[in-house]
Amino acid sequence: MMDVGRHPNIKLLTFSEVEDISGYVGNFNVRIRKKARFVDETECTSCGDCAVVCPIVIPDEYQVGLGSRRAIFLPFPQAVPSAYIVNAYECLGQNPIACGKCIEACEKSCIDFAMQDVIINVDVGAVIVATGMDLYDPTPLDEYGYTSFPNVLTSLEFERLICTGGPLEGKLGRPSDLAFPKRIGFIQCVGSRTQDPERGNPYCSNICCMNTIKTTQYLKDAYPEVESTVFYTDLRAFGKGFEELLMRSKGNGVIYIRGLPGDVGEDPLTGNLNLTVENTNTNRLENYSFDMLVLAVGVVPAANTETIRQMVSLSKSPSGFLREAHPKLRPVDTPTKGVFIAGGVESPKDVRGSVTQASAAASRASILLNKDQFSVDAITAVIDEDLCKNCGICADVCPFSAILWKKGEPAEVITAACTGCGTCSAECKYNAILMRHFSDQTIYAQIDAMLEDDPGDTIVTFACNWCSYAGADTAGVGRMNYPPHASIIRTMCSARVSPEFVWYAFRKGAPVVLVSGCHYVDCHYIDANRSTTRRVDGLWDGLDKAGIDRSRLMLEWCSAAEGARWQHIMNQAEETRLAVTPDMIQHTRSQLQEVRVPGPRNPRVKDESQPAIFQCLVCGEEWSGIYQSDQERSCPSCRSNSVHWIRSR
Ligand code: FES
Repeated sequence: MMDVGRHPNIKLLTFSEVEDISGYVGNFNVRIRKKARFVDETECTSCGDCAVVCPIVIPDEYQVGLGSRRAIFLPFPQAVPSAYIVNAYECLGQNPIACGKCIEACEKSCIDFAMQDVIINVDVGAVIVATGMDLYDPTPLDEYGYTSFPNVLTSLEFERLICTGGPLEGKLGRPSDLAFPKRIGFIQCVGSRTQDPERGNPYCSNICCMNTIKTTQYLKDAYPEVESTVFYTDLRAFGKGFEELLMRSKGNGVIYIRGLPGDVGEDPLTGNLNLTVENTNTNRLENYSFDMLVLAVGVVPAANTETIRQMVSLSKSPSGFLREAHPKLRPVDTPTKGVFIAGGVESPKDVRGSVTQASAAASRASILLNKDQFSVDAITAVIDEDLCKNCGICADVCPFSAILWKKGEPAEVITAACTGCGTCSAECKYNAILMRHFSDQTIYAQIDAMLEDDPGDTIVTFACNWCSYAGADTAGVGRMNYPPHASIIRTMCSARVSPEFVWYAFRKGAPVVLVSGCHYVDCHYIDANRSTTRRVDGLWDGLDKAGIDRSRLMLEWCSAAEGARWQHIMNQAEETRLAVTPDMIQHTRSQLQEVRVPGPRNPRVKDESQPAIFQCLVCGEEWSGIYQSDQERSCPSCRSNSVHWIRSR
């Protein structure tokens, strides 16, 4: 912290809160509230005279409530800046000024109750989210007696208790009577690795085993007479030097019992804790009595994770931790360009893992910031200004807030922030948004081609690039047989599938249309596939109204690793296809004549004799010219024929 505080290139804002983050890669604006600390941090020498006279005594958060502090306090001994702070809600001086003892005691006159919060706006090119994690609160687990029995502590409370800077200044004593504990029990996996949501979380919290092993080792070194017993289901001592530490702990006489206690009781006379456990190594019920019990509690996402997630448009895992862009290849990147994650906000991890990830995130950010230009994939959205009706729906559905919308003006895509998921294009009722590469023209042409001969034999399948398409690949690589009637159209995200594509395929005679994408939490575009679900729901309603069997439109989620699932989906689709008769296809076609199905879009020019501005859907090149027929029109830069007319000059 000291190094950070002194570094010329680091501006440290303490006692501050990020209120908003807007903008996009290379161009973020962060609004920060620097809260009034009522003490001039540049003048305060942290002598502590103010705290001595403060009459308010509050449980100290730093000592997890095992110690006390005053309303004016130093947050923790190594705090940077090393300056006192007043908690306005606790201080008597605020309501109204009735005390003022600290002001009198401060020789340097640092205390100023007129201080106000300050709003700071900072322009930054990249954002690293490293907001950490919280500890699981074991209060709901009645059987362990936490909060009922004073000598049952969490691992963090025990850590503070034995710390030299802790409430007992490093002396070991149990909370009920400060007596020296000769037998200490440790219960592992409290709030972790359970399928019962009432009892915690399904994931391993990663740090608890090693924390317990380290603590028992410390006790053996500092207090050899203390007998430590650890109750566990599995010990997860992976990582450099961890297995050796476990062996050392065992070698020093720490007892490890494989089994978790069912119930903890307290002897009211002695305050000792009694428990029974089934030792799964000996298959026997064993009784134990301890002077103290330590619960190795797991970790949970920090309370503010959801707020920050929404500010920078990130996705989260089912457990609530933020998701990386790719677990193996981009572990500190996020789906939002220019935003990186590090530490416990991404998943439970120890100091070493957090530091490694923080270094990686800082490197990734500096690579970005050291460039004069930022290149983006060319798969981005383009607004047709003439067709845009200024409804703003595209801006609402964009998972990355990459579309600017102002009343009375055509929407505008921030190309640097656009990731090309296609949600906006599929949502636009006015066909005013085109996607480069995965253009409507391309997709309609693919549908046309696959339904040209024997359409009744073809299952039109939309597969998202990241999961379901890769799942199909996995099935192929794994030589998993499935019927050969599915023809796949790849889109970047399932949210790119416009309802019009589905209607078009049915009108062209497709017996079955399958829309597939990543499982909900896996969508590579945050939660874009929720739009897919909403649209498919609408399509099912439409099919019902038109008297068409809704089972002919399938919506399935499949991950890249689920080759067997893809095989299963294909078999299901084939069963549905076989049940569709030529009469049903004919009925569908006649019904959908009524439905307005737009054909493939081509560049539109109102007056072909007037100059217009064209844009290449492949490389993004823009140029002006006179409209020419399809054969003659191509991009002057990359020679592609995927050209889109933007506006008349
Ligand atoms: Fe697969 Fe969105 S990326 S559904």
